[in-house]
Amino acid sequence: MLTVHDFETAARAKLDPVHADFIAGGARDEITVRANEAAFGRLQLLPRVLRGSAVRELDIALLGSRASMPILLSPTAFHKLVDPEGELATARAAAAAGAIMIVSMASTVAVGDIADAVRAMGADAQLWFQLYIQPDREITETLIRRATDAGCSALVVTVDSPVLGAGERNRRNGFHDLPPGLRCENLVDLRDGERGHVRQIAMSPELNWQHIDWLRRTTSLPIVLKGVLHPEDARLAVRHGVDGLLLSNHGGRQLDTVPATLELLPEFVAAVAGRIPVILDGGVRRGTDAVKALALGASAVGIGRPVMWALAEGGEDGVRRLLELLRDELDDTLALCGASRLADLTPELVRVPTWGP
Ligand code: FNR
Repeated sequence: MLTVHDFETAARAKLDPVHADFIAGGARDEITVRANEAAFGRLQLLPRVLRGSAVRELDIALLGSRASMPILLSPTAFHKLVDPEGELATARAAAAAGAIMIVSMASTVAVGDIADAVRAMGADAQLWFQLYIQPDREITETLIRRATDAGCSALVVTVDSPVLGAGERNRRNGFHDLPPGLRCENLVDLRDGERGHVRQIAMSPELNWQHIDWLRRTTSLPIVLKGVLHPEDARLAVRHGVDGLLLSNHGGRQLDTVPATLELLPEFVAAVAGRIPVILDGGVRRGTDAVKALALGASAVGIGRPVMWALAEGGEDGVRRLLELLRDELDDTLALCGASRLADLTPELVRVPTWGP
């Protein structure tokens, strides 16, 4: 496993093709899925030389959490679909690597059990919790309580899903549900007799900024909005007291034909003007990808599919090796760019090609 793509190839060979499609797929024609990765390939690095340093510093402080590298695990649902230990394996690997993991609300292990597993290793859990605000306020409050009791240190509220994106691969494959025996464990007993069924996750087409104001009053945890793309919404988020933004198009799984997140980053960062941190996800597959996003002003990047591929390939050990691989690539890239600290990554290191196809 020398690259993220090696993990993908190995995972595909192991997985039920329906589940592999669920992971790889996106909305409609998957134009945005392809655009995310392609955007990184189009941008060039222009390194500085003779600024050497024997070691590079990769650790970050982000919204009260400390991490050993600026690559975090974006929330992905249903880890038990690809590994029997599911999110327990992912979380142990993330903790061993010192990386922040955003636990999906649709995890197949309860967030409290994930946190316990990390603590049992003697590790300091760097877990954040991803939330879809539910039409029923009490249910949303219960979910927040479960995440808070588990010791999660931030809430990541996904706001790009007023309705569920059209994953046509899933429709064609008839994949609408978890196999027997698997449940969305955070959703069990939200109301009497609820068994953690996928269809309990309600999207809220009525979601608006008042919901965010309500959330701000309801929790003292840092709030990150995930799925904001428009710079005007980034400005509004700051005005509504949000603590961080995750610039994401859901890996191309919601609205198709939106731009690659990397393309939006400079304008987005300018709109936020340093007031709150900006994290980017979508298409990050290489250390060079992370460096480009950081150079353009992201505080960290997130990875989604790579984690699922690594978990499918080798369970906890697979995710551990994935994170090591990305850390090594990141470290190498910093060295080759003449950067010893993340703060040395500035826009002058990247350029848009001026000629060629
Ligand atoms: C996701 N994503 C996601 N996002 C979210 O807010 N809640 C969720 O439960 C999930 N679930 C999920 C499952 C799978 C299989 C994938 C691939 C993605 C989106 C995810 O957090 C992230 O935005 C993208 O995956 C990032 O793009 P890459 O790294 O997959 O290209």
